[in-house]
Amino acid sequence: MKHLMLALLLPAALFSAAPVDAGNAERGREKSAICQACHGVDGNGIGMDMYPILAGQFPDYLAHAMRAYKTGEREDVVMRGFAAPLSEQDIKDLAAWYGSQKGPLADLSHFK
Ligand code: HEC
Repeated sequence: MKHLMLALLLPAALFSAAPVDAGNAERGREKSAICQACHGVDGNGIGMDMYPILAGQFPDYLAHAMRAYKTGEREDVVMRGFAAPLSEQDIKDLAAWYGSQKGPLADLSHFK
């Protein structure tokens, strides 16, 4: 019984002890290899409207979207599969990488 308790508690303890920092763009670039087929090398897409541009998007928004795909709160069969294996650190690193790239996204300030 004691062993069973340990087996149940240990993974949880390891997980919560893993330090998560604010996100690192260089690490995110390395982790983004698998995302490039659809989102492009730097997140500017591959010229197909169905794949959203991630470059220059707010990192907080990108991280929020990845978490939502992971939990299923945001439904998309494709992205759910790619978000599922991401750790919180992966999400922060990928968000830092795409957020730091130059993209066409703009706010509405030029309409003022
Ligand atoms: C097979 C193609 C494909 C791959 C590979 C892929 N994505 Fe996506 N991604 C999509 C599609 C399609 C959408 C739009 C889904 C929707 O409508 O919600 C999307 C949406 C997103 C969004 C939300 C963008 C927004 O503006 O709301 C983020 C963030 C994202 N992907 C990150 C990633 C990351 C990080 C990876 C790699 C770990 C990845 N994607 C790999 C196809 C892909």
